[in-house]
Amino acid sequence: MGTIHHHHHHHQPSSFPTKKLITGALYALLPLALLRVYLFSIPLNQPELTNNTQTQETSSPSIPSSQAAEGVEQRHSPRSPRCDYSDGRWVPDSRGPRYNGTSCSTIKDGQNCMAHGRPDAGYLYWRWQPNQCQLPGFDPVSFLQLIQNEHLAFVGDSMARNQVESLLCLLSTATPPELVHRDGQENIFRRWVFHDYNATISVFWCPFLVKGIEKSAASGLNHNKLYLDSPDERWASELDQMDMVVFSVGHWFLHPAIYYENELVLGCHHCPESNHTEIGFFDVFRRAFKTTLKVASSRYWSSPASSEKLVVVTTFSPAHFEGEWDKFGACPKKEPYKEGEKEMEYMDAEMRKIEVEEVAAAAKEAAESGGRLRIEALDVTKQALLRPDGHPGPYMYPNPFADGIKGKVQNDCVHWCLPGPIDTWNEILMEMIRRWKEKSS
Ligand SMILES: *[C@@H]1O[C@H](CO)[C@@H](O)[C@H](O)[C@H]1NC(C)=O
Ligand SMILES: *[C@@H]1O[C@H](CO)[C@@H](O)[C@H](O)[C@H]1NC(C)=O
Ligand SMILES: *[C@@H]1O[C@H](CO)[C@@H](O)[C@H](O)[C@H]1NC(C)=O
Ligand SMILES: *[C@@H]1O[C@H](CO)[C@@H](O)[C@H](O)[C@H]1NC(C)=O
Repeated sequence: MGTIHHHHHHHQPSSFPTKKLITGALYALLPLALLRVYLFSIPLNQPELTNNTQTQETSSPSIPSSQAAEGVEQRHSPRSPRCDYSDGRWVPDSRGPRYNGTSCSTIKDGQNCMAHGRPDAGYLYWRWQPNQCQLPGFDPVSFLQLIQNEHLAFVGDSMARNQVESLLCLLSTATPPELVHRDGQENIFRRWVFHDYNATISVFWCPFLVKGIEKSAASGLNHNKLYLDSPDERWASELDQMDMVVFSVGHWFLHPAIYYENELVLGCHHCPESNHTEIGFFDVFRRAFKTTLKVASSRYWSSPASSEKLVVVTTFSPAHFEGEWDKFGACPKKEPYKEGEKEMEYMDAEMRKIEVEEVAAAAKEAAESGGRLRIEALDVTKQALLRPDGHPGPYMYPNPFADGIKGKVQNDCVHWCLPGPIDTWNEILMEMIRRWKEKSS
């Protein structure tokens, strides 16, 4: 699929209003136009149905880091419901990852940094230290017990996919999943079952959450179309079969787009050749979440099975392009940022804020209407921001420097290497599910 056009949206600050909103958009546009390339350009050579090679080996559950950890000890109990995992720092951890690029068979090629020859391994030896408490390490058996007889769905863009693939690798250290369903170009809809637990995990490609048409050669569009008052039915129509759903979107909202509401054009983003009004994407992002969470609430309520449900929103994950996306050294860091070393960019902060606010509003409403639905933010923006070292960079492709350093080399400074920092998101997700189950039982 080398023909996917790159749409180089050159920065043209002079021809645009200098409002912060627009600057933020342009700042991020160039590299993000490539997300589609990242997602679709790498052929998956084999179906992902291969057995996991590391099956029985880790039969003893891993030691929770609350027991292994040094330093900051439990001023609050480690599973205190009040623990805020969103703020903290990365600290060295000699234990290293629970899986690797050869032990886990479900890692997408573009994120298998080890197998692709990434030479440094230091980025694997960090753990997230929240300010007020300890984050227990991932325990695959406990996680599987938590989702026993249930269905956990991930809905969103390639970041949702990145997170689900991390989770599958973490869980396969206990028992291998079976891929029971796949559909769509590059298997963008997939479902796995962990038979020992009758636990189902799935991923749905819905990069806007709301109804949309993606720009592509196939659709003949050079911009996206978003219908902000309608959910993407690819997830919404299956909601009644989900017990827990994790929404994870963001970067696709930065692309050129035309927005519709009530079948009327609301405005557009980065559409100089049309006559629509530029409205940026922040308000659009907010409306998309309003629609999504409203639909999630209302359809859950009307579902006949009146069991408790959990809705999680993984917050925006910042990119770390320091140079040009197609040059050597686009995201060259080998260590996390230290505290205070990196301020959150305006755009990253704003995207996160919108998600956190919309989750809070929807959670309040859900609680007021009876409390069978729990809505929470998995607030990873800060911990992600602090990990410029965790991206595949040039190792999105195998051995990119086999013939020396060439003039052009594509870099992925958006997604996360597996194993890598994104594994921590699933440690937090485990605690969220645990707390929710404890509350509701
Ligand atoms: C996968 O599992 C099946 C059945 O458990 C077995 O017959 C087959 O040899 C395994 N394949 C590999 C590559 O391990
Ligand atoms: C990957 O993990 C397996 C199983 O734990 C181990 O045998 C192997 O040596 C590891 N490979 C690397 C490159 O660390
Ligand atoms: C197995 O899990 C599904 C949800 O994924 C659930 O509907 C079904 O009832 C479960 N089966 C049993 C026997 O609990
Ligand atoms: C934009 O408006 C101008 C003037 O009304 C018109 O000539 C042109 O065709 C319009 N362009 C589009 C893409 O609608």
